[in-house]
Amino acid sequence: MILLLFGAPGSGKGTQSSILVEKNNFFQISTGDLLRAAIKEGTKLGRDAKAFMDKGELVPDSVVIGLVDEVLIDNLKKGKKSFIFDGFPRTVPQAQSLKEILGKHGLKADSVVFINVDSKGLIKRLTGRRVCQSCSTVYHIENSPSKISGVCDKCGGQLVLRTDDREEVILSRLNTYQAVADMLRKFYSVDGIVKEVNGDQSVETVYKSIVSSAEL
Ligand code: AP5
Repeated sequence: MILLLFGAPGSGKGTQSSILVEKNNFFQISTGDLLRAAIKEGTKLGRDAKAFMDKGELVPDSVVIGLVDEVLIDNLKKGKKSFIFDGFPRTVPQAQSLKEILGKHGLKADSVVFINVDSKGLIKRLTGRRVCQSCSTVYHIENSPSKISGVCDKCGGQLVLRTDDREEVILSRLNTYQAVADMLRKFYSVDGIVKEVNGDQSVETVYKSIVSSAEL
């Protein structure tokens, strides 16, 4: 099963992916997470990507496509069969490349789910989000706070605001998303696999909507 999760920054792609990994045995490929890992490791790729991410712009296609290809091949070799793509593809060339990469392995996208959230609520979600520096668990200072302020419940790591969760960068990320979302809808609507889910509901209800619309 290949599931693609789309949605604006803060729509809940990462939150839902974590639940789908836990409950439905998916392997998550998040280009945002892969890029942040490269930044943390201090690689050249990470340094180059950071300059784009800090401005809320997309990292060049060639960089992202190469990363995804590598992780997908590695995990197919390990016998993984069900993948969630979280935040990839984000451009039509990325969508075309994913189609080719999957095709080489006899796979195709089965469901493309758009999580739709009213843009007013997104800024609150993102400015209130805190992420564990060690294990990347996601919290929200009001909706899902950690037991001890600033400390991860799971590993005791420090909770931080992502550098691209500053309001001026958020606005740029939202514009970037608006510019590409309909092109991606059009790309996948040809295959009749696009589903729309209301993301302005509780985390549990959004999860159930994804399960039902993607027929998991
Ligand atoms: P990426 O990391 O993918 O960021 P994003 O798409 O902006 O999405 P977010 O991670 O911010 O939000 P999310 O939808 O996962 O929401 P979450 O579940 O955390 O990308 C970052 C950057 O990397 C990009 O800007 C770009 O520069 C680069 N990049 C990445 N992929 C790329 C690609 N393919 N091509 C080129 N460049 C790329 O939830 C947010 C908050 O809301 C949390 O606090 C959570 O607790 C809360 N929340 C979640 N669900 C709910 C709910 N139902 N109700 C209330 N609160 C909720």
